[in-house]
Amino acid sequence: MKEEMMGSLDGRIALVTGAGRGIGRAEALYLAREGARVVVNDPGVAPDGSGADSSIAASVVAEIRDQGGEAIASTHSVAEWQGAEALVGTAVERWGDLHIVVNNAAVSRPGSLVRATEDDFDAVVAVKLKGSFNVSRWAAEYWRGRHEAGDHQDRSLVNTTSTAGLDSPLPLNTSYAAANAGVAAMTIVHALELRRYGVRVNAISPGARTRLSLELPAGVPSLTQATPAPGAFDPWDPIHQAVVVAYLGRSDTPLTGQVLTVRGSTVIPTNTWSLGAPVTKEDAGWTVDELADVLGEAPFTDPFDRLTFLRRVYDVSTHDEIQRLLDSILDADLAEAGGV
Ligand SMILES: NC(=O)c1ccc[n+]([C@@H]2O[C@H](COP(=O)([O-])OP(=O)(O)OC[C@H]3O[C@@H](n4cnc5c(N)ncnc54)[C@H](O)[C@@H]3O)[C@@H](O)[C@H]2O)c1
Repeated sequence: MKEEMMGSLDGRIALVTGAGRGIGRAEALYLAREGARVVVNDPGVAPDGSGADSSIAASVVAEIRDQGGEAIASTHSVAEWQGAEALVGTAVERWGDLHIVVNNAAVSRPGSLVRATEDDFDAVVAVKLKGSFNVSRWAAEYWRGRHEAGDHQDRSLVNTTSTAGLDSPLPLNTSYAAANAGVAAMTIVHALELRRYGVRVNAISPGARTRLSLELPAGVPSLTQATPAPGAFDPWDPIHQAVVVAYLGRSDTPLTGQVLTVRGSTVIPTNTWSLGAPVTKEDAGWTVDELADVLGEAPFTDPFDRLTFLRRVYDVSTHDEIQRLLDSILDADLAEAGGV
């Protein structure tokens, strides 16, 4: 075999959920280019999760075959327990193994809390949080069985979380933020539990130009809108996420239990919640009045200070400016819903 034909993922078998579009598509194509055989999973739904189109996954499979790679399509929904089992089974039945699982699928149903519906919340959590759990659960069972049978190969599980659930929350994103924060938490738990089976578990927190990022709620302008000049470096191309996922999927990568924020060619180790300065009392509990005194003096982070994305996009900084901006976003959301 010629040197240039060798890929960093030769011999690896991968599964990418939500691989028909956006970041997942880029990941599936790149993993295949690096030599992995890839299950391209995508039921081809609309951004809100409605509808279905089996040609979406099939066309990515065709692209991979055109570039000389091996792939098969799956249109299972990760939100379904049995669908997720069948999805993991697809790789194993076809190629006899599974080394890399990328939980990437998501839907979005933005809306403010005062008008959110139970159905909207459930739909988002079902794909992002429960879907990641479902696929990870079936993969973990398979990997445990292989490990206990004496097969100690490296396995890599890569979750996909979001700045919206971590460092830069947005209004109108209750379900999406909650689901993504949950995925980041699950990443650490699964890294701890699965290490003994040779499974590394990490997550990426992407920023890329896709249909999801171009249509932010309530007309919030997207950072990813600018189209680069032909041939110029494109920081919002999903290829940057794909390269990081390929790195995490390589059998000689040591990382586990990490969340990596990926913005173009910048990769940022990301820590979620951390503890601030404690207030303590020796050998006794607090009274409410005492707490009011000490916590009244303690340094807290105002939630407005966490709005890094909105503050950058709208160039607002004072408390009043931020409150006015939030009011306009929330009013626009209510107006869109026919409320106000
Ligand atoms: N684009 C960004 O800047 C950005 C930022 C933060 C996080 N993310 C995350 O990156 C991931 C990819 O998002 P994207 O921007 O490429 O979105 P996208 O809408 O372009 O692609 C998501 C894909 O997931 C598929 N999908 C939806 N429900 C599914 C289900 N039940 N089972 C399997 N597949 C399903 C859709 O059909 C779609 O093709 C998501 O997890 C998203 O939360 C993206």
